[in-house]
Amino acid sequence: MIDLTGKTALITGASRGIGAACALKLAEAGCNVIVNYVSSAGRATEVAARIRDMGRSAAAVKADVGVREDVESMIEFVKLEFGALDILVSNAATGGFRPLLATTDANFAAAMNVNARALVYLVQAAAPLLEQCGSRAKVVAISSHGAHMAIPMYGAIGSSKAAVEALMRHFALELGGRGINFNVVRAGLVDTDSTRRLPGAEQIFAGRIHKSMTGERLLEAEDVANAVLFLASPLSDLVQGCTLTVDGGADVHL
Ligand SMILES: NC(=O)c1ccc[n+]([C@@H]2O[C@H](COP(=O)([O-])OP(=O)(O)OC[C@H]3O[C@@H](n4cnc5c(N)ncnc54)[C@H](OP(=O)(O)O)[C@@H]3O)[C@@H](O)[C@H]2O)c1
Repeated sequence: MIDLTGKTALITGASRGIGAACALKLAEAGCNVIVNYVSSAGRATEVAARIRDMGRSAAAVKADVGVREDVESMIEFVKLEFGALDILVSNAATGGFRPLLATTDANFAAAMNVNARALVYLVQAAAPLLEQCGSRAKVVAISSHGAHMAIPMYGAIGSSKAAVEALMRHFALELGGRGINFNVVRAGLVDTDSTRRLPGAEQIFAGRIHKSMTGERLLEAEDVANAVLFLASPLSDLVQGCTLTVDGGADVHL
């Protein structure tokens, strides 16, 4: 069992979906957790309450990760209230599903800002705390197949995920020698609020069974969180600048 007792983890976009699963998984392993959200105060507060019920410290913190000042205030809060940061999971994302030809400047800017630029804000603000954490600190970013494949209606988000993966490799190069690991979990399709808005969602979900190479057991948010847990733990100390795909084998065959 992975024991992260006493570590402090910040998970962006942890009010629901994959982020909430990561927050609960890391808390189960012993972490104190900062649950970031931007609009779902009630749901974030519930996740934090469930974490406190496990006997850990937790706080729900509102911050738009696409706004540098918000990110800096959130990290300052972590420093003052928790005194340390060992694990940062960059999970929050936004962006509507539409063809690139119909993507406005505002659509494209939102996807790039919240999904990719936020990672720069987070690491710049958190690096001093991460460097002081005593063992190897872990930064894990959540990506998707849009980073390396063409997916209908996903051009802006997919491009932002390609940027996330490139940023993580470059951060590994810049900060790997200063005690921080940067790795990506590239998730397959999980049923969450955002993917339920995919045009043709029902059909796409139904088709997952044909793509899976893990029988009828389909990918859930907790499977993604399990990979995050590994990359947040000392078991992955020598895993650096990598992308770990968690999709039941869906992308390795036609
Ligand atoms: N679901 C999938 O199939 C899938 C597949 C591959 C990768 N992913 C990736 O996994 C991550 C989570 O996806 P999900 O499906 O779980 O999403 P989701 O259910 O739509 O949840 C999105 C989360 O991000 C937060 N968020 C959005 N904009 C934010 C901002 N500007 N600042 C701070 N938080 C913000 C939301 O907070 P509020 O609740 O407060 O709005 C929410 O907690 C994303 O990076 C996504 O690209 C998902």
